[in-house]
Amino acid sequence: MPIVQSIKTKAFYIFKCVLIPIGIWYAFVFHIELAELPPIIHNNFKQDCHDKGIRFEEYTVTTDDGYILSLYHIPGSGPPVLLVHGLSNSANCFILNQCARPPAFFLSDSGYDVWLGNMRGSHLSRGHTHLNSSNDDYWDWTMVELIRYDLISFIKFIKARTEYEKVALLGHSQGGSVILWALAQHPDMYSQYISIGILIGTPGAYINTQSLYIKLLLSDTFHFFSKIFSVNVISDWTDDLFLAKFIIRWPKVAKWICKDMLDMDFNKGTIEDLSVYIHRMRGGTSFKNIEFWTHIVNAKERNPLMYDYGKEGNLKRYNSIIPPRIDFSRVETKIAFFGGELDFAVIQSDSRILKESLNSEIVVFYNDTYHEDHGGFVFGCTMSYYNDLLEVLGKHSN
Ligand SMILES: *[C@@H]1O[C@H](CO)[C@@H](O)[C@H](O)[C@H]1NC(C)=O
Ligand SMILES: *[C@@H]1O[C@H](CO)[C@@H](O)[C@H](O)[C@H]1NC(C)=O
Repeated sequence: MPIVQSIKTKAFYIFKCVLIPIGIWYAFVFHIELAELPPIIHNNFKQDCHDKGIRFEEYTVTTDDGYILSLYHIPGSGPPVLLVHGLSNSANCFILNQCARPPAFFLSDSGYDVWLGNMRGSHLSRGHTHLNSSNDDYWDWTMVELIRYDLISFIKFIKARTEYEKVALLGHSQGGSVILWALAQHPDMYSQYISIGILIGTPGAYINTQSLYIKLLLSDTFHFFSKIFSVNVISDWTDDLFLAKFIIRWPKVAKWICKDMLDMDFNKGTIEDLSVYIHRMRGGTSFKNIEFWTHIVNAKERNPLMYDYGKEGNLKRYNSIIPPRIDFSRVETKIAFFGGELDFAVIQSDSRILKESLNSEIVVFYNDTYHEDHGGFVFGCTMSYYNDLLEVLGKHSN
């Protein structure tokens, strides 16, 4: 009798603690899998351009360290503008806006010759002459390589295909940092080619971000688990549509995550739009790059050190044992800055410190009070900075 009793108890226990949660999990997954997605989510950049009657060309560019990157082009007769996407993002972020004209199309409508680069690590730029992106060594880089190799490769390619003397650069978030750091660290390499660097929602080096998502990426816990599981690439959910479906099925949770974590409230976009943005803007960056940003945020220096690869790595990359310090006052190229009063990934007081770190003569435009949050600069319904952007480009793009 006690034995039977015990078996019964055990069976009940297994049922309660194992089968019920598994059942609930499957019901949850099934519920999400049935979500209906907006058809545009399955498009790629080329199809979007085609559907809107916009000319599109695609090129690949090989960097000096062997990364094969994709570069998109929306031809126009005006001066060339290269758009540089943010951390773990892709060129898609400049064409996805569903409730206002997206930045790439807006600039193209205005006559500019628009180019969009996909930085290494983005799922649209995973090629390499001899490394395989499934392996660790492909992911051995930080923003230092983006400024040293990727950006210059794009610019040289564009320069060879334009009559214009110079290229204007526009970067969102980390894309703006890539531009600014490149101009500060390698003025000899870049200044001759660049008319103006336009920084949108761009962090300097003194960073007090309020974004929970970014704080999570920078946290010790995240780094601890990433190392335990040997994670080398961040935010690489490739072709899986689960997250997009989750957003449609759990709009309240999704909106909370997007607003409070990703800083993407984007002024009244719909939940379908949100699923498109989250799915299609996905990129992928190296864990090492996140480590680099963590060093920068923790150091709280206006002029930070470049990534420390250790003695040998530093000698190889920088020709010195200690990594060089970025000095923003070395930037010689004109800079325009657009910041949002609702942006809590890049907050206004930090932006003002960045502005002070630059030589005041080169700052041709600065406004950090647009009614936009961090995502709003690309996905917002108001795009309140467009008129000023056109004015800045009109004056300074050649
Ligand atoms: C990269 O490596 C993966 C797994 O090791 C393999 O399946 C894939 O075919 C490789 N890709 C190339 C282009 O060699
Ligand atoms: C900055 O932009 C806001 C929003 O468009 C505008 O109201 C304000 O006048 C601008 N400030 C300056 C100094 O131009």
